[in-house]
Amino acid sequence: MDKREIVQKTEQYVRMLLENDASGHDWWHIERVRRMSIALAKKEGADEFIVEMAALLHDVADEKIAGSEEKGLSAVTSWLEQMPLSNYDKEHIIEIISSVSFKGGHGKKPNTIEGMIVQDADRLDAIGAIGIARTFMYAGNRGHLMYDPNLPYREKMTKEEYRQGRSTAINHFYEKLLKLKDLMNTESAKQIASKRHEFMERFLQQFYKEWDEQDEDVN
Ligand code: ADP
Ligand code: NI
Repeated sequence: MDKREIVQKTEQYVRMLLENDASGHDWWHIERVRRMSIALAKKEGADEFIVEMAALLHDVADEKIAGSEEKGLSAVTSWLEQMPLSNYDKEHIIEIISSVSFKGGHGKKPNTIEGMIVQDADRLDAIGAIGIARTFMYAGNRGHLMYDPNLPYREKMTKEEYRQGRSTAINHFYEKLLKLKDLMNTESAKQIASKRHEFMERFLQQFYKEWDEQDEDVN
């Protein structure tokens, strides 16, 4: 089995796992992270095979899919055991997944350029137009409001506040999305993040303008 076949088989495995998933981790998120990871790897001169494998598997170990982080990681480990890979590559891929996947990339900073790239690609998918769309889908799925003008924005919500329904889609921008551009590891990702960040700032400006009925043609 050559590397191309390993990637193909892994893609089939991940698609099969995500088919029955209701947590909002759809295949297209994985596909976008995979494409972005490969593009970043080319620019940064990283190992494209490692990056592609880690991107494909990065959400398999998410507790929302596997039930727990441990179960997810052991599923990934058994999968990789069946593949004709060197121990070095196997461990590298697992190391990347364990630092990147949890809680949407709030994990530790990865030790290798390949890990940094997959973490950057996952974070890039949380910002810009697609990041905005994902945020509103997530909020809708949880029954959160898109915005509540009576709640001051919060940089950190507690579990209790989530439970009380005090989290909104707009608040998630302040909690996470607007912070991501400064968390990028690679230069190439920083450049992309800065454009996507500007777009989110413009989106918020326009959102508040409409909310407050300050559109030019209303007044
Ligand atoms: P990932 O797929 O990168 O691991 P998560 O599972 O953490 O990401 O989140 C999936 C998507 O939902 C992301 O785009 C994230 O920004 C968004 N999201 C996560 N938590 C919230 C929240 N409390 N409100 C709105 N959107 C959220
Ligand atoms: Ni992800």
